[in-house]
Amino acid sequence: MNGSGWGLKFMKATYHSGVHKFALFVVAWTVLLLCAGALVTSEDAALAVPDWPLSFGSLNPPMVGGIAFEHSHRVIAVILGLFIVILSIVLWRKDERPWVKWLGFAAVGGVIVQGILGGLTVLKLLHYWLPVMHACMAQLMFATLVSIAVVTSRWWLADRPQYEDKATPSIHTVAVLNAGAIFLQIALGAAFRHKYSPVTPHVVWALGVLLVASWTARQLRRRFSESKELSRIRIMLHNIVGAQLLLGLGALWTRIRGVDDPQPLPPMVIATVVHTVVGALVFAAAILVVLFCYRLVPRRREVLLATERGEVAA
Ligand code: HEM
Ligand code: HEM
Repeated sequence: MNGSGWGLKFMKATYHSGVHKFALFVVAWTVLLLCAGALVTSEDAALAVPDWPLSFGSLNPPMVGGIAFEHSHRVIAVILGLFIVILSIVLWRKDERPWVKWLGFAAVGGVIVQGILGGLTVLKLLHYWLPVMHACMAQLMFATLVSIAVVTSRWWLADRPQYEDKATPSIHTVAVLNAGAIFLQIALGAAFRHKYSPVTPHVVWALGVLLVASWTARQLRRRFSESKELSRIRIMLHNIVGAQLLLGLGALWTRIRGVDDPQPLPPMVIATVVHTVVGALVFAAAILVVLFCYRLVPRRREVLLATERGEVAA
């Protein structure tokens, strides 16, 4: 089926190359911040700075030992906050779609909450599941920023072929379930990483993730094999989940081997940081699948509405 789509008016806006490029830059900065944050945890540096919002009462503490990790994480985070405020102002002024403006505000709200969670993590000495909430919120922030970059892209804003979905559950439901299964896996990983849970739930649910992701990929292949875009995204989902399973095994192996080490050693730090950051990429990939489905496959309600209005060409 071809055409620019039914009921997709709310997806249409003018393409601004500058806005999209800035959104991509903010995504890249967030990857840097995810690495810096994960390093704080893996280096055991969370409590190297005892106060917040200042570090040892200063904006510029001595950058030695764990302080270097913790303080540089804070600085990169504050700069991200500024970038996100600028991005939301730009979206507010330039983008015609109210929901995209709201996505910008959600990112501002998210980064404020995330900063406060980070501060409380320190002030409350890692209690009350605060580091787990901070870790999960980081992943949600990343997915929000990736979404902004996607919906401001030339690809999203151009006319795209539309595909009909006759099967049940709808591909939108399948994609959302897949993203939910991956987010649960991230939360279980964070609970283990921050010593709130044993590793078993995370390892067992990895099989669940594998099943759900394979089912999602199979549904995409069966229903939309003629779509190059949906095929590409399906293969990407498969590959990244597979890679993350291997990285998980590596992270677990270095944790077990390093259990008696007097301090965090590079193999464990690298393996756990990479697994954490790729975890964010896996979740973002699942959100990309959701976005692609919404962009390329009209929902049944939209089709019905368009048919009633006589907008559908046979
Ligand atoms: C605003 C954006 C921020 C983002 C996206 C972010 C992201 C992250 C990430 C991804 C981690 C690693 C979690 C893990 O490896 O499990 C982390 C750890 C941490 N972050 Fe942030 N962070 C932000 C702001 C802050 C701020 C403002 C503080 C202020 C103190 C902070 C304090 C910490 C601490 C203490 C840890 C280590 C927690 C632990 O080891 O238990 N973060 N952050
Ligand atoms: C696709 C499946 C998987 C995803 C999406 C995933 C994701 C994650 C994430 C995001 C974290 C860090 C959470 C945080 O604090 O921010 C984590 C931690 C961890 N994961 Fe996974 N994981 C997967 C599979 C596995 C598997 C199969 C294993 C091992 C057999 C594993 C072992 C671990 C370990 C050991 C940690 C903690 C690292 C540490 O000790 O610091 N993961 N996982």
